[in-house]
This record gives sequence, structure tokens and C-alpha cells, in this order.
Amino acid sequence: MRLVIVSNRLPIVLETTETGFRTRRGAGGLVSALGPVLRRCGGLWVGWPGAEASDLNELNALLADHGRQEGFDLVPVILSADDISGFYRGFSNEIIWPLFHDLQSRCNFVPEYWTAYRVVKDKFASVVAANAQPTDFVWVQDYHLMGLGRRLREVGLLSRIGYFLHIPFPPPDIFCKLPWRVDVLDALLHYDLVGFQTAHDLDNFFDCVRTLLPAAKRRRAGDQFQVTYDGRTCCLGAFPIGIDFDDYGRAAASPAVAERAKQIRADLQVPQVLLGIDRLDYTKGIPYRLRAFRLALQRYPELHRRVGLLEVVVPSRESVPEYQDLKAEIELLVSQINGEFTQPGWIPIHYVFRSLEHDELLAYYRLADVALVTPLKDGMNLVAKEYCACQVEGDGVLILSEFAGSAVQMGGDAVLVNPYDLDFVAEAIRRAVSLTREQRRPAMRRLRRIVRKQDIYWWLGRFLGACGLSMDAMTEERRAKSKAAPLPV
Ligand code: F6P
Repeated sequence: MRLVIVSNRLPIVLETTETGFRTRRGAGGLVSALGPVLRRCGGLWVGWPGAEASDLNELNALLADHGRQEGFDLVPVILSADDISGFYRGFSNEIIWPLFHDLQSRCNFVPEYWTAYRVVKDKFASVVAANAQPTDFVWVQDYHLMGLGRRLREVGLLSRIGYFLHIPFPPPDIFCKLPWRVDVLDALLHYDLVGFQTAHDLDNFFDCVRTLLPAAKRRRAGDQFQVTYDGRTCCLGAFPIGIDFDDYGRAAASPAVAERAKQIRADLQVPQVLLGIDRLDYTKGIPYRLRAFRLALQRYPELHRRVGLLEVVVPSRESVPEYQDLKAEIELLVSQINGEFTQPGWIPIHYVFRSLEHDELLAYYRLADVALVTPLKDGMNLVAKEYCACQVEGDGVLILSEFAGSAVQMGGDAVLVNPYDLDFVAEAIRRAVSLTREQRRPAMRRLRRIVRKQDIYWWLGRFLGACGLSMDAMTEERRAKSKAAPLPV
């Protein structure tokens, strides 16, 4: 049995060089979670390469080469400039993304976006149908492709099809704003299994089904839930996604990362380092976090020269004006705060706007005394988990938004905050930095235990198990293949 992952983007970034394109591994939660899964199980990843490639042969050669290095195959879905504009920027990022993050006033309900979504769904369906075998397990990922399952059934795909939503699912009073709400809900029920990050998201989905599809029958079967509608039964569950804890932990403990962490710490010249790392996105609450930090500096002068905030923002969706505005807002706040508080020998905020090399990222996680993970709303937030996995000294503090899905698993040992409550976040910062290393250890030890136990393979096993499949069956395919031909290294 082979695993076929389908997501909007392939797990790569296409970079232009003087001689053409080159690939590197993509970033973001979905890729960092599923990359290790495919590297272990092998299989196929279908998605948009992330750029308009003019030369298909060159693209296929690049993908084949990248796939050989990773140990799984990459199959592109080619999107036109109109598709990218109407489906990716429009339907996905101007409608579903803000709506599902409870930010309905940011939505742009343009009818043409729905048309573009249907066109792109057809393109994905043709590529998947041409590449999948009946014995494959096809696993569709995330909010861009909610309706793909139904289309795949319409084109006659016989494989089992699962779906996992990486972002939150909203309650009915928000979901019902979507002009195509019944269609989207009905299409989701065509998958064999639909997975959500938390029980709360699952409850919201059930409430939407009750409100919009009253004829659907909902029932609980053991620890699974089922919805029967229009002659089909769809299973549902909450499967909090994890990370490859051992991989992060091992790499963070390496001498190279230890050396880099020591160097950065010496360069920063502050006793306590606070760390914020996010993709540039309004859901991440970066301006609120900066205002809370400013408030902490205004209210608690004892923090001056004692703390420094390392704020890393990873570029994302830069062609969208809203994201450009957000970048400008962040940069204005950083310069205002630094202007107000900097003294010779001490800069309160070190601001980084770029993607980090993996070792550098690990070094930041390792050296940070406090991580500020304060999204306004987030499906899971894997930064919180990556931070704990890299805390090899075990004495960091995690300040975590109560609106991140990870708060369900980690809330007991993180310092939970409402990111909109600046007073509270400022006080949480003061409290976190005043704890001694010994006081911090027990909570970090428990956090690391949770993240290790409920890692990406635990997630995979639970999802496949709910589909009646096993991880062994997936790795069996890889073992059989490796007998026939040596695996690429
Ligand atoms: O689950 C959320 C997610 O899919 C992330 O994995 C990813 O970083 C983001 O949404 C989408 O980013 P982009 O628009 O750059 O593809």
C-alpha cells in the first residue's frame, strides 16, 4: 500500500538562479509535519510547485532530482496565473483562511473565486486520478482542497481517501457566512475519514452539519464519530498533529547547533532571550505581541538590559497587500520600541525578516529562555512543539496562546495567555523571566514528554488506524521497494 499526499503546495520552494530554477525544502507546519512521514514511508506527493514554471521538462527534472534526495516522488499540478490569483490568493487566502480563523471581517466573498476553486479542483483531480492506484491511500491535506474528495469520487477514483484540516474549523455562526457553505460541508462528507486538530474543531463541524444538513445522521462508534448523509458514511475524529521530536532533539543537541547557539547568545549580550518565530501572517498576533513587550518594558524597568526579544518573521504571501501592510506595521512597531528603549550596549528587539537555515533555527530554539507563541488563532502551532523538542538543556518557558490548538495538549505546563490581553501577556513575560532555571525545569520536562509521546508518528498511526490501515503496511511498501532497488540517499 502506498501513501499519496495531496496538498496545495509541494514541499519545496522553487528558487530562481542565474541559470534557472533550483529547489529547496519548503517551510511551514504542513511540510515540517508531513515531510518526515513521507521520508519514512515513501510514496507520492502531489501539489502545486509554488511558481509558474515556463519549462515543464526542466521542472520535472528538478522534481525528480529533489524526490530522489528525499526518498519519495513529487508530481506537479500546473496552475495558471488566473488559477493562482482566483484560487490560491482569492478563495483560499481571502476567504477560507480568515473565515476559519474567526476573522470574518477580513473575508472577500468574490463569486469568481468560487469558480476558480472549481477549476483548480478539477486540475488536482485529474493529476491524482492519473497517478493513484486503487490500493493507494490518498490523503488530502488542508483548507485549500476541502472539496477534492467528492471530485475524486466523481472521476472514479477507487482508493481510500482521507482528509486532514490543519487549521481550525469555525462554529456555525461564522461558517454560515460562507456563500457556498452547504456545498463545502457536503463535499467534506465524501471522504472516508476527516481529521481535525482538536475536539473543539470537531464539535464545531458537527454543529455546522446539524445546522446546515439536518437530514444527516450523526453517531458515535467507540472513539470514532460517523456522519451518514445522502447514502454515504464518513468517519470523523480529532488527531492533534505532532513533530518528529527525536529528529529535532538530536539535531538541536549536535555540537554544531550548540556552538551556533553559544555564539548567538554571546552576540545578543542579554541574560535572558525571548523568542518569537512566525510566518508573516495576521493570525499570528505579532503586533499584539510587540505591544505586550513594549508594555512590559514600560511597566517593569527591571527588565531593561536584562531581556532581549529575538523576533523572527518568515516571509509569506508577500504579493498580498494585506501581508505587505502587516510587515510595515511590524517594522514600525519594532523601530518605535527600539527607538524608545535602546541604550548603549542594549537593543530590546532583534528583528529578523527572512527564512532561517535549519541549524540556525534550531540554535534559536535551543538558546531561547522564553518562547512567545501567541497566535490570535491557530490550528495547532508547531513552533510551540519544536521549541520544546530543541530545549535540550530543559530550562525554557513556553508562553502559549490559549487560542492555539497546541494549548489542549500543552496548556497544563505552558504559561497560557489571551494574546489580546496586553496587561496579562506583559505580566506573563515578567513572571517567566523572574523564574530561576530550577523552577523552570519541571514544566519543560513534562512538555517535552508530551511532545515526544504524541509525535508525528503517533499522529500518523492514529489517523491511519482510524481508517483501518497501519503504518507497518506503509513502511512494508518501502521495504519491498528497497529490496528491488537501493533507496536514494
Ligand atoms: O496549515 C497551515 C498551512 O498549510 C501551513 O502549513 C502553511 O505554512 C500555510 O498554511 C500556507 O502557506 P502558503 O500560503 O504559503 O502556502
